[in-house]
Amino acid sequence: MSNNKIGIVGAGTMGTGIAQTAASAGFEVFLFDPYPEQLLIAESSLQKVMNRLSEKGKIDSSEADSVITRIHFTDHIKDFKKCGFVIEAIIEDLNTKKDQFARIEAMVPSHCILATNTSSLSIASISSALKKPERFLGVHFFNPAAVMKLVEVIPGLLTHPDTVRSARALIHSWGKTTVLAKDTPGFIVNRVARPFYGEALRILDEGIADVITIDRAMKETGGFRMGPFELMDLIGNDINYTVTETIFREFYYDPRYRPSFTQKRLVEAGRLGRKSGAGFYTYDAKAATDAPVEPAGKETLIFNRILCMLINEAADALFMNIASADDIDLAMTLGVNYPKGLLQWADELGPSRILKQLEQLQSEYGEDRYRPSPLLRKMAELNSTFF
Ligand SMILES: NC(=O)c1ccc[n+]([C@@H]2O[C@H](COP(=O)([O-])OP(=O)(O)OC[C@H]3O[C@@H](n4cnc5c(N)ncnc54)[C@H](O)[C@@H]3O)[C@@H](O)[C@H]2O)c1
Repeated sequence: MSNNKIGIVGAGTMGTGIAQTAASAGFEVFLFDPYPEQLLIAESSLQKVMNRLSEKGKIDSSEADSVITRIHFTDHIKDFKKCGFVIEAIIEDLNTKKDQFARIEAMVPSHCILATNTSSLSIASISSALKKPERFLGVHFFNPAAVMKLVEVIPGLLTHPDTVRSARALIHSWGKTTVLAKDTPGFIVNRVARPFYGEALRILDEGIADVITIDRAMKETGGFRMGPFELMDLIGNDINYTVTETIFREFYYDPRYRPSFTQKRLVEAGRLGRKSGAGFYTYDAKAATDAPVEPAGKETLIFNRILCMLINEAADALFMNIASADDIDLAMTLGVNYPKGLLQWADELGPSRILKQLEQLQSEYGEDRYRPSPLLRKMAELNSTFF
């Protein structure tokens, strides 16, 4: 990085959060969006956030003002001509992103690093729009970007190692933690977290337990902050369903990631979750205090089943060299607030116990969905651990 000027493309949820992060670390930010009304929304929402932080005493009021002053809200990419780093956070559409990058590359200096915040597109596919793909990579922030500590860094097929080094150093200087992930669907977090939703939905679909009981199992027995159904309602069932469907398709229809009709029907009916007033739960005044309808007792079984599927997914990500064991555990604790790293959890329980449970599920259902990762099998055989 040869200067402290950052370009951000797209002043939506993520672009605005990333702008706040960089400006709070003292960088001068050019936040670009082609829609002037979107720039006004971004500016007013950032102003509110900074006011709130200063009212709560988390930042003094002059610093809050400086953060806003360091951000230039612009509808011209010509402002990027002095930037050393540009992050794109526009709508999730491959051709729109490729168009933008071709335009940006023609504007920025030759040393400028270009990055995308895409959640689901491959870094390789976006890089095909660039003349110099060696200076391009993925930097996947989590929402809200100013709060969440994790950033997944994803080199593409043609990214130069110096690009990765410089991007990580810069993001660390913004107070974030980075993990390195291979350019595969879902990177680390969106892939490894799939069973948290998918297996919970499967348990519901089989009629083993209701939504409240499954959520209670994961929170009270597992120590997760939110249950899978509460979380799907918070994320939005439309978004969560689309992520699952994309990952299922991108992994060539691997049954491990198969979406659920129950969630699809909710989306079709407009029950998107909190944002539409109803999803798995209803969000009128009494919804949060609904009494459980199932008697207690199934929680351990439910928790063990979802956890062993999560651990299997984490072990398989390691087996397929998606990331290191350290980075997989860090990603799940910082990116989705899991109470513990999944591989550390596997070590505590013992890989052979997890393997046994998966083998039982696989034999009961006869489905490839429950096939144990070869790495888990090997570790159980050798009686070894991940760390
Ligand atoms: N929202 C999340 O939780 C989240 C988390 C991680 C990554 N992402 C990724 O970040 C990106 C942005 O997501 P978001 O939730 O901030 O979306 P958003 O809809 O809030 O914002 C998108 C912004 O892009 C702008 N835009 C549209 N077309 C444009 C164009 N041609 N050129 C420049 N700007 C354009 C829009 O005006 C809007 O301001 C996506 O790639 C998404 O997959 C989102």
